[in-house]
Amino acid sequence: MKKYFVIGNPIEHSFSPKLHNYWIKENNLDSVYEKKKLNLDQLENIILEIKQKKINGINVTVPFKQEIIKYLDKLSPEATATQSVNTIYLDNNLAVGHNTDIAGFTLSLKKINFNIMNKKIFILGAGGVVPSIVYSLNKMKALQITICNRTKEKADNLKKLFSNIKIVKWGEIPEFDMIINATSIGLNNEDDINLDFSNIKNKFFYDVIYNPHETNFLKKAKNYGNKISNGEMMFIYQASAAFNLWHKVQPKIGDEVIKLLNR
Ligand code: ATR
Repeated sequence: MKKYFVIGNPIEHSFSPKLHNYWIKENNLDSVYEKKKLNLDQLENIILEIKQKKINGINVTVPFKQEIIKYLDKLSPEATATQSVNTIYLDNNLAVGHNTDIAGFTLSLKKINFNIMNKKIFILGAGGVVPSIVYSLNKMKALQITICNRTKEKADNLKKLFSNIKIVKWGEIPEFDMIINATSIGLNNEDDINLDFSNIKNKFFYDVIYNPHETNFLKKAKNYGNKISNGEMMFIYQASAAFNLWHKVQPKIGDEVIKLLNR
């Protein structure tokens, strides 16, 4: 039986096992996918288990997407460009790190036919998922990408990877066509971002968070007359890309799968 894990800390709330095990069953694969809470000093050992073929694939989540890189033998171009790895597999006895968050974000926008080309994008946050979003936005030819983060230095650091981004101070709101919440504000139902968007309408508000289904950020944006999307499809598409990479099967993304996340 092949073994797959999602590693992170915390990890209790990860929906990845639900999704992957659903597809494993649907495709009659002799595999199992579990979550594993790790500490920093356990990363090296789990990559060793990949090389020893005790583990067949790993998904990586917060806070290890960058930290894991030093234990890998090879990175895909996407993982190199973002310095962010969320999917690991063995290829020719080399532990390879790839990034499927990029595909996840890109496909989530394609699904709703939102065209990024020539749009002004404003991103809140500078954490683990932001390099993947910026990479995707650049590929789709966004006109301008502006980032603000509570800790400005972290946003400034992103300029080393993406020289074209603009950084503004937390609290400053530039003109935008699409705003993306990539902070962790909203994970708790009562969380609210301390920024005022009440005079903004007919724009697109995207939240990377998918649980809760509608954060206060999205609820308010909808009330003000904006288009909204949560991070559900991004999450499902990044999982399906990892699944395809490991099992060489394109899993089906039907209503059943989407319902899994809302249970
Ligand atoms: P990590 O920072 O470890 O990559 P993350 O969940 O990917 O973790 O990122 C959390 C993001 O939410 C960060 O951009 C964080 O801002 P800081 O860099 O200043 O910590 C942001 N964030 C979390 N709580 C916040 C709050 N109360 N106000 C503003 N930003 C917040």
